[in-house]
Amino acid sequence: MILVTGATGKFGSKAIDHLLKKGVRPSEISALVRNAANADNLKNRGIEVKAGDYTDYDSLVKAFQGVDKLLLVSSNDRQAVENRTAQHINIIKAAKEANVKYIVYTSFVRKTNFEDSSIAAFQNSHAQTEAYLRSSGVDYTILQNGIYLEMIPIFAGEKVAETGVILFPAGEGKASYVLREELAEAAAHILTTQGHERQIYSLTNSASVSFSEIAKAIGYQLGKDISYESLDVDIFESKMKQFGVPDLYIGMFTMWALAQAQGTMDVLNNTLEGFLGRKPTTMSQFIAQVY
Ligand SMILES: NC(=O)c1ccc[n+]([C@@H]2O[C@H](COP(=O)([O-])OP(=O)(O)OC[C@H]3O[C@@H](n4cnc5c(N)ncnc54)[C@H](OP(=O)(O)O)[C@@H]3O)[C@@H](O)[C@H]2O)c1
Repeated sequence: MILVTGATGKFGSKAIDHLLKKGVRPSEISALVRNAANADNLKNRGIEVKAGDYTDYDSLVKAFQGVDKLLLVSSNDRQAVENRTAQHINIIKAAKEANVKYIVYTSFVRKTNFEDSSIAAFQNSHAQTEAYLRSSGVDYTILQNGIYLEMIPIFAGEKVAETGVILFPAGEGKASYVLREELAEAAAHILTTQGHERQIYSLTNSASVSFSEIAKAIGYQLGKDISYESLDVDIFESKMKQFGVPDLYIGMFTMWALAQAQGTMDVLNNTLEGFLGRKPTTMSQFIAQVY
């Protein structure tokens, strides 16, 4: 039995789709969800839905009974990044207690000198989870997933076609963006093939891109000029405030922009291509699909 956590989320639901596409029977898949009311489409496909919360240890031990392999989709807790670490540790502990044999964890791409990055707190949470998992005694595979291509329209702004400008303080820094669905497909590949125990995979694209290149690709697709302005952080933040963007999001945008400026996610690797058996979707292909 394979259990997928975060199964009503975007990554977990796609991972389940790909497990099914790879021929895993619905009766061999179970899904951990917080709210079973959102899981009708899983139930309708014959997947066992188990209620559980990353913060509720007993619910996890109960949900993990009879599970051999676990896909641990990392938490999206927005209160404090330390909450995520505690939740991940809860899941690993509970899995061990329930006698789960193998855990695949969705981590985030990381360079060795990540402590200087603007996203160091996130990186640190993943590093701590990885360390806990590696010493847990449960077999594991760590997926250091690259930044999602799906973040680009969020960073570029929903009105980019109207305004003709992307405001984002990422300088000319580059990042290796990957399609979330292809990362989910890779997770399903790992859960259904042999030889991945105790491996740490960096799953990124084979080219990194800057926001100048992203603006050019969006402009090409829309048939109009789209410019890119990397504003000073203070100016960027005050403009976002003027546009009514909530403080939490302004902080997030700034953090991710600076991480891109610093090259934190500029990691190239062809492991994902090997798992997919084809080239991962590029930034230009993604832009052509979305805009
Ligand atoms: N690589 C990247 O660029 C990138 C970008 C964003 C996020 N991430 C990370 O990757 C993860 C998966 O991405 P995604 O796009 O699938 O995010 P998502 O759609 O927000 O899904 C996150 C899932 O985690 C579940 N979850 C969160 N807290 C939980 C808790 N306390 N107990 C039980 N379930 C809980 C959510 O449950 P509900 O469905 O009930 O809300 C949701 O199903 C994120 O959670 C985040 O850690 C990576």
